[in-house]
Amino acid sequence: MLRRLYHEQPDTFAFTPANQAWAEAQMTKFPEGRQASAVIPLLWRAQEQEGWVTKPAIEYIADMLDMAYIRVLEVTSFYFMFQMQPVGSVAHLQICGTTSCMICGAEDLIAVCKEKIAANPHELSADGKFSWEEVECLGACTNAPMAQIGKDYYEDLTAKGLGKMIDDMAAGNVPVPGPQNGRYAAEPLSGLTSLTEFDSGKTQYNASAQLATDLGDSIRRIDGSEVPLTTPWIGKDGKVAGRDTAEPTPKAPAPAKPAAKQAEEAKKAAASDKTPAKKPAAKKPAKKATSGADDLKELKGVGPALEKKLHAQGVTTFAQIAEWGPADIADMDDKLSFKGRIERDGWVEQAKRLAAGEATEFSKKVKKGDIY
Ligand code: FES
Repeated sequence: MLRRLYHEQPDTFAFTPANQAWAEAQMTKFPEGRQASAVIPLLWRAQEQEGWVTKPAIEYIADMLDMAYIRVLEVTSFYFMFQMQPVGSVAHLQICGTTSCMICGAEDLIAVCKEKIAANPHELSADGKFSWEEVECLGACTNAPMAQIGKDYYEDLTAKGLGKMIDDMAAGNVPVPGPQNGRYAAEPLSGLTSLTEFDSGKTQYNASAQLATDLGDSIRRIDGSEVPLTTPWIGKDGKVAGRDTAEPTPKAPAPAKPAAKQAEEAKKAAASDKTPAKKPAAKKPAKKATSGADDLKELKGVGPALEKKLHAQGVTTFAQIAEWGPADIADMDDKLSFKGRIERDGWVEQAKRLAAGEATEFSKKVKKGDIY
């Protein structure tokens, strides 16, 4: 199956404030200069928020991680867990079609999807609520046949049961995940033959189903307000300096526009030579270069993509950055589409030292070729 960008894309993407804070906190898990390591969690969060990974989301995340757009697209298209086209607004059903599930009735489940959702995988149902696909073994073979719906596994399925579950979800209910035939977990169908002493004191459902039921987020879009966003590795609770996650504002995905309409709008924007409305207005013109250009990548937190953006703003020397005050930082934050990065990475302090001819630990590594 070809995995490429869908032909219709929304205009923009932005994480909700809480998801943004979460994403920025993920980036702090990795050493300076290695923020690209956070690409998969960030893409996954974007998918949890929007249902699928859009082109604007790929670009947004690439900008956050200082990666080339194509690199993030490569990651997205490589891993099948990322959906590259719109999915059902209520649920996307992933039916396991591998050996155990296949011999236990996966084909009957797929027939139900074809009948109740759409004839083809990745096709939206007529009401836009559902989509489905066949996937490879999901590792729950003991409970075959099974499907992953949203975040959770629904196991020991029957065609009739799956049909009823789809109707339930369409009516706004979320069926309890886990085995659907009365089994507690993955014990023998005939019941436990050993370790029976552990049979008492059980929760109502097995641990996975119980947690899914307690969290209640099986098939919900995730805006970051569902569970506390803890970030123990930086000793904070879901907060990154300067961000307030107390009242996240869920953002609905922008409606997709037909390609022709987008092309027409792009043509108009080019003709009128206007800055796109989504770009924040500059608060203050960037200072012009006054001497030969420095290698701005010697600043911790500046990679090739950000250096290019800085050059586009006329910033080419450490001396210029060393002079930035709060207004310049706010202005540049907007222009780089990455609020908080300049302060968090201490660009001004680094630039002051470098402009004075000193070296930082990071600049030494860059000069040695240890950082790319
Ligand atoms: S074969 Fe379906 S979960 Fe393994």
